[in-house]
Amino acid sequence: MKLPEVLVLILALSLASFRATAQPGKFDILLQNAGIASMHTAVTHFNTVVFLDRTNIGPSQINLTNGICRDNPQDLVSNHDCSAHSVLFDIASNTVRPLFIFTDTWCSSGAFLPNGTLMQTGGDYEGFKKVRYFSPCQPGGICDWVESDKALLNGRWYATNQLLPDGRIITIGGKNIFTYEFVPDQGLGQFYLQFLYDTNDEYNDNYYPFVHLLPDGNLYIFANRESILLNYFTNTVLRKFPMIPGEPRNYPCAGSSVMLPLDYANGFSVVEVLICGGSNKLAFPSPALQLGASQTCGRMEVTSNNASWEMLTMPTRRNMGDMVLLPTGQVLIVNGAQNGSQGWEAASNPALNPVMFTPSTSQFEVQAASTIPRVYHSTANLLPDGRILIAGSNTHQFYTFTGVLPTELRVEAFSPAYLDSSNDFQRPSFVNTPTVLRYGFNFTADISLPGNLTSAIELILSSVPFTTHSYSQGQRQLKLPVSQPVTMNNNEYTVSSSAPNSAVVAPSGYYMLFPVHNGIPGTSTWVLVTF
Ligand SMILES: *[C@@H]1O[C@H](CO)[C@@H](O)[C@H](O)[C@H]1NC(C)=O
Ligand SMILES: *[C@@H]1O[C@H](CO)[C@@H](O)[C@H](O)[C@H]1NC(C)=O
Ligand SMILES: *[C@@H]1O[C@H](CO)[C@@H](O)[C@H](O)[C@H]1NC(C)=O
Ligand SMILES: *[C@@H]1O[C@H](CO)[C@@H](O)[C@H](O)[C@H]1NC(C)=O
Ligand SMILES: *[C@@H]1O[C@H](CO)[C@@H](O)[C@H](O)[C@H]1NC(C)=O
Ligand SMILES: *[C@@H]1O[C@H](CO)[C@@H](O)[C@H](O)[C@H]1NC(C)=O
Repeated sequence: MKLPEVLVLILALSLASFRATAQPGKFDILLQNAGIASMHTAVTHFNTVVFLDRTNIGPSQINLTNGICRDNPQDLVSNHDCSAHSVLFDIASNTVRPLFIFTDTWCSSGAFLPNGTLMQTGGDYEGFKKVRYFSPCQPGGICDWVESDKALLNGRWYATNQLLPDGRIITIGGKNIFTYEFVPDQGLGQFYLQFLYDTNDEYNDNYYPFVHLLPDGNLYIFANRESILLNYFTNTVLRKFPMIPGEPRNYPCAGSSVMLPLDYANGFSVVEVLICGGSNKLAFPSPALQLGASQTCGRMEVTSNNASWEMLTMPTRRNMGDMVLLPTGQVLIVNGAQNGSQGWEAASNPALNPVMFTPSTSQFEVQAASTIPRVYHSTANLLPDGRILIAGSNTHQFYTFTGVLPTELRVEAFSPAYLDSSNDFQRPSFVNTPTVLRYGFNFTADISLPGNLTSAIELILSSVPFTTHSYSQGQRQLKLPVSQPVTMNNNEYTVSSSAPNSAVVAPSGYYMLFPVHNGIPGTSTWVLVTF
């Protein structure tokens, strides 16, 4: 090489490395083969993660153990199947253990009960009306799925669940199902909801409605481009919100939604909803066109009398993006594609760079890219240490490991920049915390810091959602009040705080409690929020 060529090469290399370091965060592969592509994912309070696919997808890449097989005469694909369709991922060891699921869980819904058991509802075919439970156990335990004899009143395929303040689960909608019902049902029956019918257009666009339990006890429900405030006790629509500009946002158009963190500073009374991405309405019926995905988010203060959508532009187009509430109060938008829609072989141009949204500034920041496309049937879940677990992606009817966008069995984690070791000098860690937070009661936490205290300590409560189809059912976050830290001894501090004062603000269950110092979160601890 001549000298100028060497210089050009050096310049190119340094630009490349500059670009690589300029984008914050990083992806790491945790496991090369989880055996299944997780369509539904939920983190348990034993630091394990339930991965769940559908059952009628043919043999997976992980077999059941101890000679167990599934003999289900109703299974569409294999009546005798010795492979697993659900596995339990252990966060500490990055390993999986096969779980046994009997009936079809395809496009089902779920929520954790107050006692930490995952309740999972519906699916397709023989699983349409099923209720299943997974009571988690210590890693190394033998806990497994239990299928209940109780049946849902309506089949629920593409429904959304939410844990209610009284410990029941409400399950809402589904494919051409315009009702909601409660589990347990207590003889109440199902309730017709005209809104679900009205938002079901010629290409549907209203499956997996976005549901947020507001601190006034009502449900905010968004489907297609419309949203309402529902009193589910009386089946009364209290409010109808303005239509969101732009594309439809629900299946198969595939946007996502979060309720931005609730804050003690306003008595948990101000609620903003953020809905990002979606697809051109014609993308699903015309997959050959690979129409560009939505590039907008809508942000609306749904507790305002004068609620209206503030529209924001994302750095890139995206459908099938997962939105994850981080302990910093930011929203990570990750996974998905830039063209097409949800559905088999219906998307292209994967969106490999996550973006970080900061609510206080309404700014988006592009994050470092993954090398692995995560499109249809992929998931993203916050882990107790602040990483985001990324699993799944299967845009095919069966496991297909060749061609474009093959079925993806690798498991990754995205570590936001706050986890960089350069931030360790100010990372807080818990020394002592309660394991139970009782509504309305104060508590104290002891925190240690590697260096000096340079800002207030924050305490953040994060629920554990059931994530599927780019939407995390039951995801919520609360910012708790925190006193001035009292110095105990060398870099150890005690702070006092108050648990939420009602189950309407934070339904009972296991939450991750994060300490945050100067925008840097430490590893959370599990707390049971209860009466
Ligand atoms: C599962 O068991 C079947 C039958 O013994 C075998 O053919 C297959 O290779 C096994 N699959 C895996 C992933 O171990
Ligand atoms: C939690 O409650 C469910 C539903 O009542 C029950 O099936 C399950 O066994 C309970 N789990 C534990 C750990 O108590
Ligand atoms: C994706 O959408 C963009 C924006 O509409 C368009 O310019 C591009 O051609 C599309 N890509 C493909 C592969 O169709
Ligand atoms: C209501 O919202 C609109 C649009 O954001 C704004 O122009 C108007 O000033 C608001 N009115 C009140 C009373 O807040
Ligand atoms: C909790 O702490 C706050 C602030 O110090 C105090 O006003 C309140 O009375 C305390 N509540 C209880 C139940 O102790
Ligand atoms: C911590 O605070 C002490 C006392 O103010 C100061 O002497 C020391 O330099 C500080 N350490 C760091 C790492 O800033």
